Amino acid sequence: MNANKLIPEHIAIVMDGNGRWAKKRGLTRVAGHKEGVNTLRKIVESCGKLGVDYLTVYAFSTENWKRPEKEVTFLMGLLKQYVKQEVPFLIENNVRLKFLGSREGLKVSVLKAMDSGEEQTKNQTGLTFNIAFNYGSRLEIKDSVRAIAQLVSKGKINPNEINETLIENYLYTAGMPDPSLLIRTSREMRLSNFLLWQLAYTEFYITDILWPDFSEQELLKAIDSYGSRNRRFGGI
Ligand code: IPE
Ligand code: IPE
Ligand code: MG
Repeated sequence: MNANKLIPEHIAIVMDGNGRWAKKRGLTRVAGHKEGVNTLRKIVESCGKLGVDYLTVYAFSTENWKRPEKEVTFLMGLLKQYVKQEVPFLIENNVRLKFLGSREGLKVSVLKAMDSGEEQTKNQTGLTFNIAFNYGSRLEIKDSVRAIAQLVSKGKINPNEINETLIENYLYTAGMPDPSLLIRTSREMRLSNFLLWQLAYTEFYITDILWPDFSEQELLKAIDSYGSRNRRFGGI
């Protein structure tokens, strides 16, 4: 755990605005997604250097299946390519990769890439880097409720033993601290079904910068803003 209170222990990012970035340049939306990968590489490196313990990025939501089939297919391919291409860089930077999300609906080749990325980086001890892919927070909570209901129905626990820790143990983020700082690029002021439970007391930072234009400098601005917040957690 990093001892510096000014550096968030866990940063979550809604990487938004790839499509708008591409449109502004007269490019197809997928060009924005490709450029977004380059930004991600820089931000992972920066977080590692700064001593952030966890970085969680939103890469594909359970609602993103509504996009045109061509774009969805491209994003699936990009994930596979990402793992193949970035694992050596992640290992070099002592980064452990984890995926958060549902496995349902994903093709075997995508699941294999995800498993291989996790497996190859499992002994890294620096930054834990979570990619939320096929992630939906309501689905995550629903699955957790169902798993706990099964424990009750099998007589393994009593309903009065259900507490916040037990619920957290059934979320994809089990064992991780809640995000201290949430960054959303491209101005949108909404969560879009991201980490609804985990963000209960997280500080928000929203910027106009489109994700492909986001940089270490912008990350430092967000961290600076975080450092000046008075986190009361309901106290005075
Ligand atoms: C974020 O960029 C990436 C994904 C959701 C996969 P968008 O594709 O949402 O970009 P905009 O919001 O249309 O600009
Ligand atoms: C949120 O962005 C999901 C990801 C960044 C992966 P969207 O672009 O899908 O969100 P909405 O549709 O603007 O809420
Ligand atoms: Mg968007």
